[in-house]
Amino acid sequence: MVTNIPPHGGTLINRWASTEERDRLTQSTENYPVITLNAKEVTDLELIADGAVSPLTGFMCRKDYECVVESMRLANGLPWSVPITLSIERKLLSLLEKVGQAVLTDVNGSRLAILKIEDIYPYDKSAEAQNVYRTDDKAHPGVADLYRQGELLVGGEVTILNLPGHGEFEEYYLKPAQTRTVFRERGWSTIVGFQTRNPIHRAHEYLQKCALEITDGLLVHPLVGETKSDDIPANVRMRCYEVLLRNYYPLDRTLLAVNPASMRYAGPREAIFHAIIRKNYGCTHFIVGRDHAGVGKYYGTYDAQKIFDEFNPDELGIVPLKFEHSFWCKKCEGMASAKTCPHDAESHVALSGTKVREMLRNGETPPMEFTRPEVAQILIEAMRG
Ligand code: ADX
Repeated sequence: MVTNIPPHGGTLINRWASTEERDRLTQSTENYPVITLNAKEVTDLELIADGAVSPLTGFMCRKDYECVVESMRLANGLPWSVPITLSIERKLLSLLEKVGQAVLTDVNGSRLAILKIEDIYPYDKSAEAQNVYRTDDKAHPGVADLYRQGELLVGGEVTILNLPGHGEFEEYYLKPAQTRTVFRERGWSTIVGFQTRNPIHRAHEYLQKCALEITDGLLVHPLVGETKSDDIPANVRMRCYEVLLRNYYPLDRTLLAVNPASMRYAGPREAIFHAIIRKNYGCTHFIVGRDHAGVGKYYGTYDAQKIFDEFNPDELGIVPLKFEHSFWCKKCEGMASAKTCPHDAESHVALSGTKVREMLRNGETPPMEFTRPEVAQILIEAMRG
């Protein structure tokens, strides 16, 4: 009988209220102060709800927050790389302190959760930017988000009442407990997780298939929370993943499900975060390629791989599979990297993201050495609108 890998910190968290508790909380909290979450905060709440960020049971209190920012660990020493926080404006302070609890809603006013307030504290945005994002530049999308946050952070456990639905892709929203069940049922003891915020191109496919050569199963786990406006929207990407898997992947060894998280573009720190999330979903291995979760020129090509060396492998508990920049080589007639291909750059098919977008916008199919034609077709249609 195959068993799952233990979740981060040992216990898979579930913060959902029972039906009984939900009825009671819905009535007794009617007059509580309201904190309205933005879209990114709703996705963080979703990660907390089902244990994707185990062992967190709510938004971080000061001790955890400061340890994470300073030393990439929770206050109890467990590795953790990005803050999961909720910010508020100072004007809410006295009311929140007085009541000690708050209702968390989305922007439409739907009641999502109850927050038991354990801590309200000031924080240093510049220190968070420098430590987590390695830059204080407000042109960085993650740093820009941080500077838009409220002046104070509020921490404490959450109890979930209700979360927004996911429309046509609901079936791919498998909770960590569900992916773990699938892995057990399929008899997979080693599972490699793949993070992406893009359509899957040939280089991505190559990494996944190399990894699948040495593992039992592949979890294709695209991130579908908030991304920057020039990234391809999740609903278009989902159609690309479906067609790609149907045509080119061994379906008995592949599972497609989504990661509800939002992108922070924190490069190395986010690679650790992405790995911990996939460990909670039951993966034993995690792919880290070139410039993982990077944006612009803020991070070195392999910084997101090097950061794994700052931890003892046992305390992370998931194995990073590190891949070099990969490409199609015309002389090798296949996908390769500098590790496996002796030819020079002229033989390599290298297309910038900007060039590919331009081709797709003009209705041109990028070469099959770069992307599968079925995927290109969906992207061209999406760009036509
Ligand atoms: S990310 O923000 O989710 O990291 P993306 O979807 O582009 O962006 O990448 C998904 C994964 O594939 C990451 O681990 C990234 O490092 C890796 N990757 C993307 N393109 C390449 C490539 N050409 N060669 C090697 N690794 C790559």
